[in-house]
Amino acid sequence: MEQEQEQKQEQKQEQKQKQEQEQEQEQKQELELELEQEQAETPRPWKRILSGIIVLSIVIIGAVLGPVLQTNESDPKSTFLSRCKKFNQYDCQRLWGAFEQAYVNKDPCNVPVQAYDPLIAAAPFKPQCNKMMFWSKTKVVVHGFTEKRKDCFVTLEDTVLGYALNGLTWCGKKGSNGTFTTACPRNCENNPVDSFWIRASAAYADVACGDVTAMLSGSTITPFDPTSTFAKVEVTRFKAPKVRSLNVVMVIQKNAKSNCKNASLQKLKKALHTGITYSCKDVSRIQECGSKPQIACKTCW
Ligand SMILES: *[C@@H]1O[C@H](CO)[C@@H](O)[C@H](O)[C@H]1NC(C)=O
Ligand SMILES: *[C@@H]1O[C@H](CO)[C@@H](O)[C@H](O)[C@H]1NC(C)=O
Repeated sequence: MEQEQEQKQEQKQEQKQKQEQEQEQEQKQELELELEQEQAETPRPWKRILSGIIVLSIVIIGAVLGPVLQTNESDPKSTFLSRCKKFNQYDCQRLWGAFEQAYVNKDPCNVPVQAYDPLIAAAPFKPQCNKMMFWSKTKVVVHGFTEKRKDCFVTLEDTVLGYALNGLTWCGKKGSNGTFTTACPRNCENNPVDSFWIRASAAYADVACGDVTAMLSGSTITPFDPTSTFAKVEVTRFKAPKVRSLNVVMVIQKNAKSNCKNASLQKLKKALHTGITYSCKDVSRIQECGSKPQIACKTCW
């Protein structure tokens, strides 16, 4: 549920970014063309030039955007491989093979979390003590932040598997070797997408160490939502003394509904293994630390 809602938000953001990039590109091209014209010093009928620019822009935008949209929506394999390659240290074909075996040729409502054990074993999560960031209902904010400050915090979606599969939909079919992206059920318990995120979240939480951070949302009535993956899968896996503390960063935006004082956080405190220190801080200026790399991680909030 959480994933789905936030995926939509994320897609919107991505679209906005793309539009902005396009506009930038368009403006650049217009400028370049204008420059050329000035240099040539040959006055031409403006209308023809203008329509030329527009046609050119559309062609270029189509050429740039077309393949991007296509890889995201209809071909999970090429998306997986190209995202995986950015990490430069994995046998991406082998990872894809380990991924596929979890759901291919299976009923898409019969893919248990354990089906992904071989995939997790093929790309085990590395403990990154004091940098590990968990989140619930703050997907856009948290990734907007970690994208810029990987030196400070790392989320599951910044690791190779989380990154490669973020935002994707996939499933198999009995009697077929294929990977499908449409008509993939999410309303049955053992579906391929939810099972992956549960398995990966568990594995990521299992290696948590040192001071752990969780970004929760003050824009919800129950920041520590007992039905979230964070509550159901991650929190109970933090082990003392390997994990020293859990530090909640409560994202406070304009129309905040709750904060660190909310009673649900008492439940979070209680759910932690004894020996793990708990803290919570209401933070209204998350972006500042993201946009100013000179701010030390420890003083982000
Ligand atoms: C599925 O894959 C196997 C092995 O890669 C191949 O031998 C078989 O023909 C494939 N079946 C279909 C239906 O494509
Ligand atoms: C705070 O937490 C409690 C219990 O977890 C919840 O029922 C309540 O509605 C929450 N929110 C606010 C704004 O009080």
